[in-house]
Amino acid sequence: MKQRVFSGARPTGRQHLGNYLGAIRNYVALQNEYDCIYSVVDIHALTSLEDTKQLQSNIYEMMLDWLAAGLDPKKCILFVQSHVPEVMELFTLLGMVTPLSWLLRVPTFKDKAKLQPHNVNYGLVGYPVLMTADIVLYKAEAIPVGEDQLPHLELAREIVRRFNNMFGDTFPEPLAKLTAFPMVVGLDGKDKMSKQLGNHIELALTPEETLERVKTAVTDPARRYRRDPGHPEVCNVYRLQQYFNELKTSGIAEKCRQAEIGCVDCKELLAEAINKDLAPFRERRQALAAMPEYVTKVLADGAARAGVIARKTLVEVKERMGLD
Ligand code: TRP
Repeated sequence: MKQRVFSGARPTGRQHLGNYLGAIRNYVALQNEYDCIYSVVDIHALTSLEDTKQLQSNIYEMMLDWLAAGLDPKKCILFVQSHVPEVMELFTLLGMVTPLSWLLRVPTFKDKAKLQPHNVNYGLVGYPVLMTADIVLYKAEAIPVGEDQLPHLELAREIVRRFNNMFGDTFPEPLAKLTAFPMVVGLDGKDKMSKQLGNHIELALTPEETLERVKTAVTDPARRYRRDPGHPEVCNVYRLQQYFNELKTSGIAEKCRQAEIGCVDCKELLAEAINKDLAPFRERRQALAAMPEYVTKVLADGAARAGVIARKTLVEVKERMGLD
């Protein structure tokens, strides 16, 4: 039997290059070898209340990107977290076996508490428990995530061990499946590419808009004039070249070092390479956008299939915990 993979992503709307290189491409690759379930975690989004006005359109836009990027509802289950409400029941039950002290020392909780001091809600503390519920509801074993999620996964493993100890072997211990891609740095050349920071390039832009965005990227700060030799190894535009312009990168690096090409030339090459890579994606996205009822159907079907698995696990959990 194929190993089960589960991953979740918050509904952040239109996806960007960081999402694409860091997560989506990996999700697509995994669907051929594993039994994959991918969830848009809308309940998790509620832990930072700002998001909710655009929640539905964010879910829809994100699904368009996922489907256009090649996630195939025939090969994997795609669903919205809240459409399988059993996860909230399991979340409550797992909450009874999770010491509060474990949750209070999670680094992402401390970060979030600092970021939204006016809204340190109960759900925010429970965030990793809900994430554990996501995973174990489907008895998933392999979890593709970025490095920032490792503390959450460690906690999930601890909760699973504790549950299994108290009530008998029920869940496999989930393991992180780190993606081969390092963090994609944003156009500011400093921070991780993120919509929140505005240093991103959306996949669904037009080729012209892509070029405009690429032109705003910070390059090697030591290269102030066209005649200055560049240092591709410290330049984030060059790093992006490596993802999209694989064959040409050695030539580009050399020409940059010799000041044969300037940063504007380099950016034009990059935009061209991104546009070429994304052309089929953009075509598919447009086609999908013309049939919104298809996305609704995919999600309804995904929730139905996920629900069957979820209800079976929940019956077992309640029995083990003495509720039935
Ligand atoms: N916490 C994850 C993030 O912010 C999203 C997530 C929720 C998740 N549930 C999950 C990831 C289960 C993997 C498995 O990126």
